[in-house]
Amino acid sequence: VSLEKYNTFRIAVNADRFYKLTAASQLTELYNQQVFKSKFLVTGAGSNILYTKDFDGSIIKNEIQGISYRIAQQAVYVTAGAGIVWNDFVWYCINEGFSGIENMALIPGTVGASPIQNIGAYGTELMDIFDHCIAFNTVTGAFERFENADCAFSYRDSIFKTTYKGQYIITEVTFKLATNAAVNTSYGAIQQELVARGIERPTPKDVAEVVSSIRVNKLPDPSTIGNAGSFFKNPLISQAQFETLIQEFPQVIHYPMADGAQKIAAGWLIEQCGWKGKSLGPAGVWPNQALVLVNLNHATGSDIWNLSAQIISDVAAKFNIELEREVNIF
Ligand code: EPU
Repeated sequence: VSLEKYNTFRIAVNADRFYKLTAASQLTELYNQQVFKSKFLVTGAGSNILYTKDFDGSIIKNEIQGISYRIAQQAVYVTAGAGIVWNDFVWYCINEGFSGIENMALIPGTVGASPIQNIGAYGTELMDIFDHCIAFNTVTGAFERFENADCAFSYRDSIFKTTYKGQYIITEVTFKLATNAAVNTSYGAIQQELVARGIERPTPKDVAEVVSSIRVNKLPDPSTIGNAGSFFKNPLISQAQFETLIQEFPQVIHYPMADGAQKIAAGWLIEQCGWKGKSLGPAGVWPNQALVLVNLNHATGSDIWNLSAQIISDVAAKFNIELEREVNIF
């Protein structure tokens, strides 16, 4: 089976076997058929994956649908099937009058993938609205419930990416949203765009529209140009290392963390190394956002990988900072 249309980098590799999952109960059947005893990978939209070679195992594409909700006092608990397209889910919530999710409009991917790397954008992270999820344990065959505190969420990370990497298949996620339409416009770019549109008291829908327009202007549309969003994480460095860095590079874009560490804008580091808008063979660095690598023309996974390795090495040489890939590599 060709995976070209199942990964947003549009890398043309093949998988030995391919299953579409439309109901959680199918997992028990696959378990009984011993599918999880050999190599497998679960994908949603394939928007955070780079395949560097053929996949010699089973790809399980999660397409579980279904949305329901329960209103309780100030909150609403919305449960969504893991295979639902994330942005469709965001707009479902907005149209129902639920708030808290609007800053994450237009993030690529699916509901089931959202907790795995704790997706986030424009001042909101998944962990801020995650209540619990149901996940299938591929080792024991049991369905288990994970509360927010069980997931060890942190910046672009969770227990599903670390301790339990590859072990669980998320089948549904329940979000805790608000019914009072409070919005978070702390992010500078959102404020500027609201002012530009003359909006003084923004609704969740206004915020979602503003965020969507910011994203469209900055980020390449994966349906026309292959990419997986930010390819690298924004690195965290210690206060001591930061003090050395800022002496040499006073312009460095940084965000202080609660524990004294500093988060550095990786896009800025890459841009300073001269990579923004540049390419290496058919792999390129997006001209409007250097954190995003793109497939310019039938790139292979290795082409993208080689570009990322060159960037990591240049950033390390200039800034003594080791960039970490955010995308999953197979
Ligand atoms: N910057 C540059 N040059 C660049 C890119 C950015 O100087 O080429 C500077 C910007 O001017 C800005 C700062 O770096 O001052 C931060 O840029 P931006 O607001 O675009 O956000 P980011 O830190 O580059 C992160 C997320 C994005 C998310 C945005 C908005 C990561 C790895 N990426 O990017 O998430 O949309 O913030 O909240 O944390 C993704 O994960 O795939 C993704 C797109």
